[in-house]
Amino acid sequence: MNTVYHIPAMLKETIEGLNIKSEGIYVDVTFGGGGHSRAILEAGAGHLYSFDQDADALSNAIDDERWTFVHSNFRYLRNWMDYYGVKEIDGLLADLGVSFHHFDCPERGFSFRFSAPLDMRMNQTAKRTATDIVNGYSEEELAKILYLYGELKNGRQIAHNICLSRSKNPILRTEDLVAASRIPAERSKELARLFQALRIEVNDELSALREMLVAARDLLKPGGRIAILTYHSLEDRLVKNFLRSGNLEGTIEKDFYGNNLSPFELIEKGREASEEEVARNPRSRSAKLRVAEKK
Ligand SMILES: C[S@@+](CC[C@H](N)C(=O)[O-])C[C@H]1O[C@@H](n2cnc3c(N)ncnc32)[C@H](O)[C@@H]1O
Repeated sequence: MNTVYHIPAMLKETIEGLNIKSEGIYVDVTFGGGGHSRAILEAGAGHLYSFDQDADALSNAIDDERWTFVHSNFRYLRNWMDYYGVKEIDGLLADLGVSFHHFDCPERGFSFRFSAPLDMRMNQTAKRTATDIVNGYSEEELAKILYLYGELKNGRQIAHNICLSRSKNPILRTEDLVAASRIPAERSKELARLFQALRIEVNDELSALREMLVAARDLLKPGGRIAILTYHSLEDRLVKNFLRSGNLEGTIEKDFYGNNLSPFELIEKGREASEEEVARNPRSRSAKLRVAEKK
């Protein structure tokens, strides 16, 4: 296993964006290696609830009485806040997707760089793995996922190749999927997109994000901030439209005078990591930071 669990992206910019109030109640819905969570506590938060659906993240637990770990999918944000008697929050951070730990842990099956069972579950107790999807979905369903979540223009062809291959032998390991897709090894960006698409489906990432955004909007106090780091265009579009409009449809409602009725004021509109950060941490290259304040 790798020693670095995760290097947080745009740490300083994210903490500044959250504008931490001392004694305020904060939620980090994607704890991971805990880099962002630690910084939120160091900035003076009164209490921080950190979610992660992967029990491995608990190896980074923070010894601080102001900190509570919630081992759960963040789609249940509202239920957990009810459970803890929290009616309103001062800020929320979501640093979406997987951690370095997921990519660098061969046995988790997130990376085409390693030979491993085709798993890709962030929550290791979830029932459905990437193997189930690759072998169980129809060609049409697979094509849709590859096109939508991987933005693979040749998604139909790849889905066809996969189905042809699985009709002879089941696809059980990462290398089986690479071979079945017939994407040549040198087209590593395409392979990364194939794996990304499956990972998003296995973990139902977009539905969880939608549910969490709505709960976060309702829980935030006026003046409270929401900061989101996205890593691919589909989730970024969803977040961008939500923060602009305050709803999942992205419909901007206006009053009689033409004033935007969105509950949010935009603070950061898709900031990217500096060149210096990308040089130090190449995985921050695709990160986009969006921050909004509840009116
Ligand atoms: C990019 S990492 C976060 C890294 C973290 N900001 C840090 O400083 O180390 C994303 C983390 O969120 C978790 N995660 C992703 N989607 C989740 C969800 N729907 N519910 C709960 N945890 C989730 C993953 O397991 C992973 O550990």
